[in-house]
Amino acid sequence: MHIDIDEKRCNGHAQCELSAPEVFSVNEDGIAFLLTDDPAAAQREDVRAAVRRCPESAITLVDD
Ligand code: F3S
Repeated sequence: MHIDIDEKRCNGHAQCELSAPEVFSVNEDGIAFLLTDDPAAAQREDVRAAVRRCPESAITLVDD
């Protein structure tokens, strides 16, 4: 599974970090970035929750 963050859409809502703090963080400019691009199987439901909760629809999951 590959995670893509569209930095142009991201507006710093941090719902991704709240949903999956081991996978997402938000930098000092309010833009999300990945802590890992290869989340463990146990984290994947949290990643899906992050996708659902992002108000800007900035996160996309791509099955490899
Ligand atoms: Fe950005 Fe969405 Fe996270 S707006 S900070 S990717 S919740």
